Amino acid sequence: MDKLLLKSGARLKGEIDISGAKNAALPILCAALLSPEPLHLTNVPRLRDIATMQRLLGEMGVAVTTEGAAMALDASDLNNPVASYEMVKTMRAAILVLGPLLARCGEARVSLPGGCAIGARPVDQHIKGLQAMGADITVEQGYIHAKASRLKGARICTDMVTVTGTENLMMAACLADGETIIENAAREPEVVDLANCLVSMGARISGAGADVIRIQGVPRLHGARHAVMPDRIETGTYLCAAAITGGDVRLGKTSAAYLDAVIDKLMDAGCDITTERDAIRLQAPPRLKAVSLRTAPYPAFPTDMQAQFMAINCVAEGVATLRETIFENRFMHVNELMRLGANIQIEGSNAIVRGVERLEGATVMATDLRASASLIIAGLVAQGETLIDRIYHLDRGYERIEEKLAQLGAEVRRIR
Ligand code: UD1
Repeated sequence: MDKLLLKSGARLKGEIDISGAKNAALPILCAALLSPEPLHLTNVPRLRDIATMQRLLGEMGVAVTTEGAAMALDASDLNNPVASYEMVKTMRAAILVLGPLLARCGEARVSLPGGCAIGARPVDQHIKGLQAMGADITVEQGYIHAKASRLKGARICTDMVTVTGTENLMMAACLADGETIIENAAREPEVVDLANCLVSMGARISGAGADVIRIQGVPRLHGARHAVMPDRIETGTYLCAAAITGGDVRLGKTSAAYLDAVIDKLMDAGCDITTERDAIRLQAPPRLKAVSLRTAPYPAFPTDMQAQFMAINCVAEGVATLRETIFENRFMHVNELMRLGANIQIEGSNAIVRGVERLEGATVMATDLRASASLIIAGLVAQGETLIDRIYHLDRGYERIEEKLAQLGAEVRRIR
């Protein structure tokens, strides 16, 4: 299993480009299932989750070809509407095939994702929404069996804001008979990027980015070309990495447009941030100020940035309270950060972080994708060497992370 060895001391400086968004690319790959004509994508990040999705779609009969960050998906021979447990257990986002498969094939058999490190994460809202659209759904032996000769438009109000739930239902509704209205929809920019791709495939969608989305079903979708949006979480992660080192970096091929909540917090921490149309520059002070936050659905502060802000607060001046409201068990990084000398106290869904003067390098273990990112950020300033074990989590969601960090001057090495 690969490990990452970090040596502290470097102040991050220079420029890197941000990759395409994992959480936009995953549903967009699934959108290819909706049409017998090819979908041509650019700016697809080369990540383990994307490779897993590619393999899953391949098992269903989708022909996938890639060239660098370009990908073509041809679902004209879609013949096996099944997502096995082996696939879904390694990547929960595999549930995103359910809606499109059911809409295009009239049936789908998709494994239940089960639990994961950051919480129970059920998919009841996905099921409830498809049932409202007339699907006949049974859950047997850990699999969701869904059938519908043609889905019917419906009014759906989800019990909570769910990102992949909104995406699954929006994709299914594209080929349904009549109008579907999704209320309490997720407003995440990735939902909007998926909607833009679907519209270029001939879907009739309005309201994506607001909490009510309306979809007029059409009989078929056609092929299209689409460029995946930049990854706002990768962007935020490198901003935090630069901030903790007192650095000065410019991130290209990205946009501040989706990052207001994160940028505001970095400015509160004392960073200077200037934005261009497709780039962000951050200049950090020698020591950051503590910043409290509360995670919530977009446009509020993203849960996927909570761990990285925990890391920067570990060495900031003052005390910060980080409140996690989306996932019940998303403090797995706390014990590992404490191994580096952080002072963190957990009280229910709050983490109280008292900034210390310095962290000390140690061996730590990555437990999930964003937790791994927080350990890297802390490792950049933890005196001496930090060895991060189980970094396969990182490869799920960060493209060439050690190369990009090295380009900014970090001393980092992958140990195979
Ligand atoms: C997506 C993102 C993930 C991010 C999360 C929250 C992708 C591929 N992943 O995950 O990176 O951390 O949004 O921004 O885009 N819930 C239910 N029942 C459901 C669905 C959700 O109870 O049917 C609960 C979840 O357990 C969680 C909350 O709703 O507590 C939000 O989850 P959701 O938005 O669905 O997360 P994902 O879409 O899985």
